Amino acid sequence: MLSEDPTKKSLTELGVTDAVQLAHRFYELRARFQRELARAAEGEGWEKLRDEWVGPEGSVQSRVLANWIRTAPEHLKAGLVQDLQNLINEVFILSTVLQPLDQLRTTDAAKIESQFRNLRGLFDREVKECRDEVDLGITERFWISPKSGVLKHIATNWRKMAPRDLVPSIGREENKLKAHITHGIAERRATIESIESGAGQSALARERVDLSLPGVIRAIGSHHLIRQVFQEIEDIFVSIGFSVVEGPEIETPYYNFEALNIPEFHPVRDDMDTFYLELPKAAKTPLLLRTHTSPMQIRTMEKQKPPVRVIVPGKVYRRDNPDATHSFIFHQVEGLAVDTDITFCDFTGTIDYFVKQFFGPSVKTRFRPSYFPFTEPSVEFDVSCIFCGGSGAAAGGGTCSKCKGAGWIELFGAGMVDPAVYGFVNYDAKKVSGFAFGMGIDRLAMLKYGIDDIQVFFQNDVRFLRQFP
Ligand code: FA5
Repeated sequence: MLSEDPTKKSLTELGVTDAVQLAHRFYELRARFQRELARAAEGEGWEKLRDEWVGPEGSVQSRVLANWIRTAPEHLKAGLVQDLQNLINEVFILSTVLQPLDQLRTTDAAKIESQFRNLRGLFDREVKECRDEVDLGITERFWISPKSGVLKHIATNWRKMAPRDLVPSIGREENKLKAHITHGIAERRATIESIESGAGQSALARERVDLSLPGVIRAIGSHHLIRQVFQEIEDIFVSIGFSVVEGPEIETPYYNFEALNIPEFHPVRDDMDTFYLELPKAAKTPLLLRTHTSPMQIRTMEKQKPPVRVIVPGKVYRRDNPDATHSFIFHQVEGLAVDTDITFCDFTGTIDYFVKQFFGPSVKTRFRPSYFPFTEPSVEFDVSCIFCGGSGAAAGGGTCSKCKGAGWIELFGAGMVDPAVYGFVNYDAKKVSGFAFGMGIDRLAMLKYGIDDIQVFFQNDVRFLRQFP
């Protein structure tokens, strides 16, 4: 016995946690058994070998039972019992067939028959446990391998060493055993194949694709209504010669205010309550979230000489309190047309064309005088309130909450570009003229699609979004 006998330790002490590690431990036990078999054959004695390996006390079998099986995790137990059973069979069979019959006290035909009956029984038990072709291969080799199979040992140790008169009965029994093994293996192989192909069939059936079944329809997203309205507006203006440009949402006060003729402390800055960015003290210039898309008028004219015809869609930000028509983030489309002989008529004609294209020919509109430091003259463009039909009264009494009783909803500010602005972009104010406008897109969308609260654009409730596929 080795001093470091692993069967004296529990599986936990050995660090065995899975079936692969366990298989390795059994492989080691078998190798040890093979070494001890050789020593037994050399004269240490078969009795001693069997006692060391099989038996209720002090044997490898009893220690594996007590130290491995009893303390094994549940998922390893069944495999362990089977492995031990196989090992014990092996010990029993090999220690039998490696001894001459006289040492086994098998001295007549009846005892020979009984020995072979035992072997057939052991084979039957073993072959029944074969679960796949690998198990079957191991069993087949163990029993009928021409070099070291049980049959070979029988021929060498039993038949060739037996007295002449017993040889015929041994030969007959050998043939019987061989036929029994061959038949048993073939039968088990057929069973395994039918189990496997049966499992295969049911797996195939499970995986079969039925092309006639309707597919899984995945929801395809759509553009947000604001994006759709941007697209509509872009299409209308592109069709009359405008191009689309975009600009930064983080701006400097120069582009957002000064270059638009809105100097510091100008009261109009109060109307555009502004979000400023927190910057390090060393920052060269303050930065802000643009309050309108008009800074792109300056950036565009800085870059290109007249004629200029652009629209600028984008997000803008103001510290306005949210209500049905106000949000602190909203959308605008800026328009700018500058050339040598653009008049107020070009301006009203363009706006009229746009409004009729966008809302249809029956919409009521109005210009009213207004003021913007960067346009002169300036106007405000309103459409009749679709919610109260322009009456200013709510259906249930009181004033209409959408137009606040005015009967009109302001859509955008506009005007002829103030000559002072041309000074900031090196245009000759005496030679060029033009118009500009800045539309609130959210309000345009509300009016066109009968939406009574601007907040729904930002809540992204799919029940709302799905209405505009
Ligand atoms: C301006 O922003 C100017 N830049 C427009 C302009 C451009 C004038 C070019 C002249 C020449 P105003 O502050 O009025 O203008 O805003 C324009 C539109 O944005 C409004 O008519 C309105 O439709 C929309 N708007 C303004 N504030 C909000 C808000 N808090 N929420 C939703 N829409 C808003």
